[in-house]
Amino acid sequence: MRLIQYEDILSAARTGGKLFTDGKYMLTPLAKEALKRHNVEILSGGSSMRKIIIAGNWKMNMSNEDAVRLSRAVASGLGDLSSRGRIAVMCPPFTALSSVASSISGSKGLYLGAQNIFYEDKGAYTGEVSADMLISCGCSFCIIGHSERRKYFGETDETVNKRAKKALEKSLTPVICVGETLEERESSRAFNVVKKQITGALQGISKEDIAKVVIAYEPVWAIGTGKTASPEQAQSMHAYIREQIAGLSDGAVAQSVSILYGGSMNPANVKGLLECTDIDGGLIGGASLKAEDFLKLVHFDD
Ligand code: 13P
Repeated sequence: MRLIQYEDILSAARTGGKLFTDGKYMLTPLAKEALKRHNVEILSGGSSMRKIIIAGNWKMNMSNEDAVRLSRAVASGLGDLSSRGRIAVMCPPFTALSSVASSISGSKGLYLGAQNIFYEDKGAYTGEVSADMLISCGCSFCIIGHSERRKYFGETDETVNKRAKKALEKSLTPVICVGETLEERESSRAFNVVKKQITGALQGISKEDIAKVVIAYEPVWAIGTGKTASPEQAQSMHAYIREQIAGLSDGAVAQSVSILYGGSMNPANVKGLLECTDIDGGLIGGASLKAEDFLKLVHFDD
């Protein structure tokens, strides 16, 4: 049973006037009043447009042998996700993509993703990996603009935008990462920083293609630190990101885009985060490296 709150109605009112919910729900008295006032429509009955996505970003970890072991353990413990309105994604390093693809082939609802993509098709770009190469390894997703790439490898909003366009052109789903540093949060710039990242990443992308992207909100101060954003902090940023997407496309598109949270997500905090209206899954680093933890995250509500 989902409890729909006043803020949920306001967020839906700002992003197209429709609130999608997967099953039974209850409204708080304030939400009931706001529903009428803002003319929000609740669409329910298992028809939520947004899938829950639990994605593991393995970063620079795992030899081929370890990768096969981990991916086999995940695949065998996952069960059939296809009827549950959710999917799992594993993003190993490039070197392990092919072997992970083989070990997860046939698992329903489990997909392969890369941790980056280059925006040119081929040529003299030593060290880069193209969309076609990722597709030939079995990828359907690719992470773009992770804060570690922005910090250590000179990734900018402009290169994120080019990579996202290339991924969309090749029918790979880009998982575009945004998020503020601690200093930016403490100086009240978090929302402006994320707005600039979203606007930059989606610049020149059509409404139809915006509907195909996945956004990951990863506050830099929460990555690998054990400090998670509170559900309230994360929800307010996710709702804000949805508003920005609505501004760049329209409300219906914004309601259909999955926005994942990333930053020290683990089996103990996943439920509180995923219960928030605008949090549609997670991009998980450390906890995705242990099959048991990753499976608990995928089955967070069992
Ligand atoms: P952690 O889950 O280890 O904090 O990493 C999050 C992340 O960066 C996922 O991309």
